Amino acid sequence: MTRQTSELLQNLWDDSHAATLDEPGRLLYRSNLLGSDKRITNFGGGNTSAKVIAKDPLTGQDTRVLWVKGSGGDVGTMKLDGFSTLYQDKLDALRNLYRGDQFEDEMVAYLPHCTFNLNPRASSIDTPLHAYVPQAHVDHMHPDAIIAIAAAADGQALTKEIFGDDIGWLPWKRPGYELGLWLAEFCEKNPQARGVILGSHGLFTWADTASDCYAITLEIINQAISWLDGKTQGKEAFGGARYTPLAKDRRQQLAEQLMPEIRGLVSGGQYQVGHFDDSPAVLEFVCSVNMPELAALGTSCPDHFLRTKIRPLIVGFDPSVSEEPSASKEPSAGEQLSTSHVDTVVQSLPTSLDQYRKDYAAYYERCKHSDSPPMRDANPVVYLVPGIGMFTFAKDKATARISAEFYTNAINVMREASAVSRYCGLPEQEAFDIEYWLLEEAKLQRMPRPRSLAGRVALVTGGAGGIGSATAQRLLSDGACVMLADIDEELLAQTSQRLAERYGSDVVRQVVMDVTSEDAVQAAFATTIREFGGLDILVSNAGIASSALIEDTSLDLWNMNMDILSTGYFLVSREAFKLFKRQACGGAVVFIASKNALAASAGASAYCTAKASEVHLARCLALEGAGSGIRVNVVNPDAVLQGSKIWSGEWLQQRAKAYGKGIDEMQEHYLERSLLKRPVLPEDIAEATCFLVSDVSAKSTGNILNVDAGNVQSFTR
Ligand SMILES: NC(=O)c1ccc[n+]([C@@H]2O[C@H](COP(=O)([O-])OP(=O)(O)OC[C@H]3O[C@@H](n4cnc5c(N)ncnc54)[C@H](O)[C@@H]3O)[C@@H](O)[C@H]2O)c1
Ligand SMILES: [Zn+2]
Repeated sequence: MTRQTSELLQNLWDDSHAATLDEPGRLLYRSNLLGSDKRITNFGGGNTSAKVIAKDPLTGQDTRVLWVKGSGGDVGTMKLDGFSTLYQDKLDALRNLYRGDQFEDEMVAYLPHCTFNLNPRASSIDTPLHAYVPQAHVDHMHPDAIIAIAAAADGQALTKEIFGDDIGWLPWKRPGYELGLWLAEFCEKNPQARGVILGSHGLFTWADTASDCYAITLEIINQAISWLDGKTQGKEAFGGARYTPLAKDRRQQLAEQLMPEIRGLVSGGQYQVGHFDDSPAVLEFVCSVNMPELAALGTSCPDHFLRTKIRPLIVGFDPSVSEEPSASKEPSAGEQLSTSHVDTVVQSLPTSLDQYRKDYAAYYERCKHSDSPPMRDANPVVYLVPGIGMFTFAKDKATARISAEFYTNAINVMREASAVSRYCGLPEQEAFDIEYWLLEEAKLQRMPRPRSLAGRVALVTGGAGGIGSATAQRLLSDGACVMLADIDEELLAQTSQRLAERYGSDVVRQVVMDVTSEDAVQAAFATTIREFGGLDILVSNAGIASSALIEDTSLDLWNMNMDILSTGYFLVSREAFKLFKRQACGGAVVFIASKNALAASAGASAYCTAKASEVHLARCLALEGAGSGIRVNVVNPDAVLQGSKIWSGEWLQQRAKAYGKGIDEMQEHYLERSLLKRPVLPEDIAEATCFLVSDVSAKSTGNILNVDAGNVQSFTR
């Protein structure tokens, strides 16, 4: 693949809009504009600042205040409360307290003492990098095009060649107080400079106004993009292609064949969610001649590095021999089915992961200091698979997705740097010192404890319906990722959108699936694997209800109940079992059956019989699954009228008729019928289900939990 000319960044600054804003407002405006383009900075990367004159709340005097992006958040989406505010004169006074490079971390504790106006936002470690630049406005960005130069072996010479005296160069230095002083000294000695490139890291630019600062940042990045374009036109990236990427559907199939096994192998300490990326930039890299050599060097920018670990794992898959999977070959009599290449790769995964973990432990041992925090999870985050793409695995979906974005940034950097020079990763000890930095560890320690279902993936059938959507919501609120599967496309889209708005689009996916179709069920599981890497929880809930005396029960009606409620539950459980066993890290299944699975009801024999078969299927599966840590339990609802489609249709009319009641009397009727005299809500079923899929019920399988406000007929015995 030869290169295309890159598009340049457009200046989006609107003077008339900016004129309506105050100085902090313009800083926010600039930050959001910068963060809106990933070519300018990666997610969560970089920071911006403005030194603003404000009234001191204590003295009423004008005072200089540094507004600088605080710890956490992303410049693209941050709000004003994302900035920390500090007295500039106090920051200046800190210079007198500084004891030198080896004590720079202690300066972090002084920053809260400089807080202006009781702003609760914690200051970022990068604060000194802004404080001592004399200009009022400072941007620090991580643009791929600039990092490519910053990570080139002769980055300093290239900077000079491209920017002359406009942009200076500072060698790699971990962000902190010392680097802040380096920047101050640089500005003093180079008053004409408009910015500086930090080796292996990124860009600093400054100006007297917000709009100038924004314009300069864009101009410098554009200059780098154009220069790189000129140098790389017509050249092949990464030493050319070694493989041709496989076709899209084949890539997806193979991702489905590999991800659950990887997930199982890395989910020992903590459940991991997967992300699959086969974008053109990723495919070009994983199929290239130089990929193994470049990947081994690790990433450069500390942000990239922190999210993607010291280096990726390269999965030993050869796309040129993969086209004939063994499953498609019919073995002739007496002939053993030969192991396909994919099977061999799957079998080799434990060994390659083991090796990765050993290498990681060795890196930890080589680089650790006497006060380093203990070694963290040694599993890779990024998996590169020639011909197929990239998997990332992390403690939640957003982290996995963002890690993929970061590695894509790293790929862009490696492509450009290696085309114009020799690409250099961050030196190993520097990488370690960032990864195991005590300040980084303190940040990790401050993070809230993961929620009880963090890292887990659930599939909810009938997920668009009353009980299904309430269950999905409950699982999401405990930190699980949820695949909603339903036959009702419109309602599914609505439910999915509603849940995504509340819990974030990373954690909710939807698939149209008819539980009675073997193909549709298999396809839905495949989609779940592609979206999240595997599955831990199945809530089999899709259903209908029907009512007819036995002599009026047509074979079609009988079969419909059996198909959806009995066969449907069988089909989804079978796929879940296959997947759970591939992952080999247990699993939890809950069947939403019915009070009628235990209690006979006149005029609904097809429904009751099908529901009874669900209960027995669950018990058989509990028996079969126990050895593999797979638990199967049943929740029996009764009369959950609210939110239920079942109760909005014919069933309600038929039941009302059967009891000789009006439709609006039915809720009251069921309430009165219950022992506890209370209505049963979808949330009650969701709560019971959540209990049975979570670790608090780890010792329960083959159980039935009635959630029916009490009904003597369904007491189990
Ligand atoms: N609501 C109650 O009172 C009650 C009582 C006992 C049992 N249940 C059981 O609870 C489950 C959920 O019921 P609900 O009250 O939420 O009803 P609901 O109608 O609101 O939800 C059921 C969902 O299943 C979907 N569905 C139907 N056929 C499907 C198919 N072939 N493939 C995929 N999806 C399909 C529907 O589109 C719907 O979204 C059902 O199994 C039901 O039998 C409900
Ligand atoms: Zn940075």
